[in-house]
Amino acid sequence: MAKDNGQTRAKKDEPSDSPEPRNGLELGSGFEIVAREDFSDVTYLLEILHPAMAKAAKPGQFVIVIAHEHGERIPLTIADFDRDRGTVTLVIQAVGKTTREMQQNCRVGTKLFGLVGPMGVPSHIGGAAKVICVGGGLGVAPILPQARAWKESGAYVIGVVGFRSKELMFWDDKFNRYCDEFIVCSDDGSIGIKGLITLGIEQAIQRHPDIDEVVAIGPPIMMKACAETTRPHGIKTVVSLNPIMVDGTGMCGGCRVSVEGKMKFGCVDGADFEVHKVDFDELLLRLSRFVPKEKEALEQWQKDCRIQQQAGELIDQQSSQS
Ligand code: FAD
Ligand code: FES
Ligand code: MG
Repeated sequence: MAKDNGQTRAKKDEPSDSPEPRNGLELGSGFEIVAREDFSDVTYLLEILHPAMAKAAKPGQFVIVIAHEHGERIPLTIADFDRDRGTVTLVIQAVGKTTREMQQNCRVGTKLFGLVGPMGVPSHIGGAAKVICVGGGLGVAPILPQARAWKESGAYVIGVVGFRSKELMFWDDKFNRYCDEFIVCSDDGSIGIKGLITLGIEQAIQRHPDIDEVVAIGPPIMMKACAETTRPHGIKTVVSLNPIMVDGTGMCGGCRVSVEGKMKFGCVDGADFEVHKVDFDELLLRLSRFVPKEKEALEQWQKDCRIQQQAGELIDQQSSQS
């Protein structure tokens, strides 16, 4: 497995991200963040020191992160790993309370309270001569190690990625390195094909009627759209499912998915599944089960942040007056 974190290291945090303890992020114990890169106002990369995990990790696996002592458990795909540096890389989209809190507090030198894994069944790589690797949104980063592994298996690899606009694009140099063809789609047409990622998949299928497999990672709605694009062509399509996960070990049942009418657990039977066999409507319904509570948690956290900021400003004011 090749390792390439050059870009990550080159764009490490600025000095302002010095390792001060912030909002419960411990400096003393846990798993040290050794690099951070921000791709946009919502997408950020963390490289974390964990030699044992870096040694064991395989493409398609994920970790459970607990950011601080009172933090919730959230699953995140291992977007990359470097066995020499002993690090694993996560690429995170700030969508709710925990991922925004991490965006605010996870700086180089701070430590994550818990990092459990690698979890899940590694992706099955091999047995296909021509593969399309599709990544959209939070899936762009974790599709890279898959593309790389397929390339190393000897397959002809076509990468298809989607961004909102050119400014948000990242890792195009890495994709170009590992993909025989690389197709970019953007919502606003500022780069590549204007439109949804499914247009890029269609284009690749038109050019190559002999595609053996499509591998897709991204938001659930995107993976559903990929499924509908490949279904008429009868192409095997594997996606990395993201049902709600709590323990990640098959104990809680939170990640139940229906696959060909049988109950499977996303965490121990996946996260990869053949998408045409998955009951996607049920998955989407289950993903929205806790939305009111998630909204409440985010609002409370934002309120706490405002109070903290106001208290800080008051202290600054008082000390400048005295
Ligand atoms: P919340 O406001 O709590 O939730 C926002 C939405 O995220 C929810 O509506 C729900 O759809 C989903 N979500 C919330 N809690 C969980 C949970 N415990 N498990 C799964 N989904 C949840 N995101 C990334 O940005 N990068 C990744 O690499 C990544 N990999 C993932 C791999 C797997 C196997 C799974 C299952 C999910 C992955 N996710 C990834 C999604 C990520 O776990 C959620 O975005 C995160 O938990 C949201 O937490 P929050 O508190 O910020 O948002
Ligand atoms: Fe609990 Fe899968 S996360 S069973
Ligand atoms: Mg949450």
